[in-house]
Amino acid sequence: MKNIITIDGPVASGKSSLARALANKLGYYHINSGYFYRSLAYILIKFCKKTLDDLRALDQEDIECIDLNKLEYVYDEGRPQVFYQGTDLTPHLKTRDIDDGASTISTYPFIREAVNKFQHQLAGDHDIVIDGRDIGTIVFPEAKIKIFLTASEEERTSRWQNDQRKKGNIFSFDQSLAEVQERDRRDTTRSIAPLTIPENGLVIDNSNRSNEDVVREVLELI
Ligand code: DC
Repeated sequence: MKNIITIDGPVASGKSSLARALANKLGYYHINSGYFYRSLAYILIKFCKKTLDDLRALDQEDIECIDLNKLEYVYDEGRPQVFYQGTDLTPHLKTRDIDDGASTISTYPFIREAVNKFQHQLAGDHDIVIDGRDIGTIVFPEAKIKIFLTASEEERTSRWQNDQRKKGNIFSFDQSLAEVQERDRRDTTRSIAPLTIPENGLVIDNSNRSNEDVVREVLELI
């Protein structure tokens, strides 16, 4: 079996930055599992002509219009890309609508099943560092290295606010805090695959630490 490192954690905890840095140091593939939920939400809206409201009451038949064989995840030169039917979806995955759509559809068991199958296929072909919410608990509980990355609510709120600003979305600190709290609530209280610390997971709080410092700690652990 290939090597697997899992990183779970709440919104704006720095999972993807850590995963990417580790993957690049180790020569592994970085799998950003949020990209799959985002891609499926995008495909449902753009290719299957669903509205955001439709996504709130989705049936299993609704995803039959998605040809999963045409979905491709590529990790090249340190960045993940997702293609569907040859079209690069990556530039469209970080909008507010897709934030919302991905969060909505991630609560359906048939969506999670499809994503998990895809992730297992990728892990069969590559050594991976994979980040998400349920990776060490549900998707790859057998992984040798399982990290739960977190930071204080205040720190994550500032990061989320800055990320949004870079995308041209201006939120006050209080609005950002409300958004972060709502995402945390949804991620941790949903009935299927809620965010929790994996068994034997290493909890790392990076509130006052640089990414390099955390990368060093994980490399030592490995
Ligand atoms: O990590 P992210 O913000 O890009 O994730 C997008 C959405 O997908 C988010 O609402 C949480 C959900 N998600 C999930 O339920 N399970 C995962 N393993 C990864 C993401």
